Amino acid sequence: MNFELTQEQKAVQEMARTFAKEELLPGVLERDAKSEFPVEQFHKMGELGLVGLPYPKEVGGQGGDYLSYVLAVEEISKVDASMGIGYSVATSLYGGSVMNSAAPVEKKREFLEDVLAGKCFGSFGLTEPNAGSDAGGCITTAVKDGDDYILNGLKCFNTNGPLAEYTAVYALTEPEKKSKGLSCFIVKKGTPGFKVGKIEDKMGIRSAQVSEMILENVRVPASNMITASGDGFKLAMKTLDGGRIGVAAQGLGIAEGAFEIAKEYLKTREQFGKPLFKNQYLAFKMAELECEIEAAKWVLYKAAIDKQEGRPYSIPAARAKYLCTEAAMHVTTEAVQMLGGNGYMKEYHVERMMRDAKITQIYEGTNEIQKLVISGALFR
Ligand code: CAA
Repeated sequence: MNFELTQEQKAVQEMARTFAKEELLPGVLERDAKSEFPVEQFHKMGELGLVGLPYPKEVGGQGGDYLSYVLAVEEISKVDASMGIGYSVATSLYGGSVMNSAAPVEKKREFLEDVLAGKCFGSFGLTEPNAGSDAGGCITTAVKDGDDYILNGLKCFNTNGPLAEYTAVYALTEPEKKSKGLSCFIVKKGTPGFKVGKIEDKMGIRSAQVSEMILENVRVPASNMITASGDGFKLAMKTLDGGRIGVAAQGLGIAEGAFEIAKEYLKTREQFGKPLFKNQYLAFKMAELECEIEAAKWVLYKAAIDKQEGRPYSIPAARAKYLCTEAAMHVTTEAVQMLGGNGYMKEYHVERMMRDAKITQIYEGTNEIQKLVISGALFR
């Protein structure tokens, strides 16, 4: 077993770290205040090859490995978790839906190329007002009409929704079969009847764009159906397994970002005539947090390697998502506390990181759902 990153992985990590520092850190507080997504920076990430990193060249990707992609999401999220999720949803959830589907390779390329090049955004339309954790409870329908399908329904909490050129929409082609009648369609922005609904006003990841997507008699060609009829639920679940690795990387990045700020603060801030870290209580607290981050990190990297090497990764992904996002919440909360009054102020960044961390315990399957997946395998 070798715990060293390869030269290529280190190079991606360094590139993403530099990009985050130079391109995302300036303006991150302002974007959080104004709920504005750094669209131009996303295009630049595409040019750097980060968006299409883990996909084969034949569909427009970079042919890199999944751990490199995880390292990139981690570095980006250390600085800007809103970009972390916009990036991860485009790559893991939209990209994953197409890549894991039954579509022929030319179709995959058609639907992926521009998103993987960072020229435009992809989004994932599964969740509905009454189908959250119970993802199989979707009621959006797709009815065959000649060579087309007509889609009707309402999707919610769509990350990248207002920005997306392409959305993977999960809809019932055989409603009587419930989740076994779900299929997946690629719907392009501007298709008549496909509209952005309410744009959400959120606690954290404030610059990420999250909205409802309304489907009113949306006509899409049958060739945009990327699953066999009824295979949509399994595609969504498989895709979410990959997405959860992305959210785990986002959580880990948030935890590490807050940890680094707290470390610097404890070294430079003096009270009672000595730097804060000379208080054993605070130094021990940092030691505990460091262990938590390190443990979560290796569970995540292992999940990425399992996926990369074709081993089953549902359970590793659920473990990584659970551990890394719990670490994100814990470390950011402790960081705010260790920075005291300053920690509560926006300019020190950790309060934003604490708000950003909360959603990582919720989306792409709440952490209770991750425990359901893990315990389900334990007692199968
Ligand atoms: N991969 C492939 N197939 C899978 C699978 C997986 N990981 N998990 C389940 N399946 C298959 C099962 O094998 C089963 O197939 P058969 O019927 O042939 O046996 C079928 O799917 C149904 O499985 P279950 O009976 O286990 O399904 P369920 O209805 O009980 O649901 C669940 C299981 C784990 C609770 C699932 O509903 C789930 O993951 N819920 C959470 C949904 C979620 O993560 N939503 C996030 C949306 S994205 C988002 O957050 C927005 C964003 O933009 C960031």
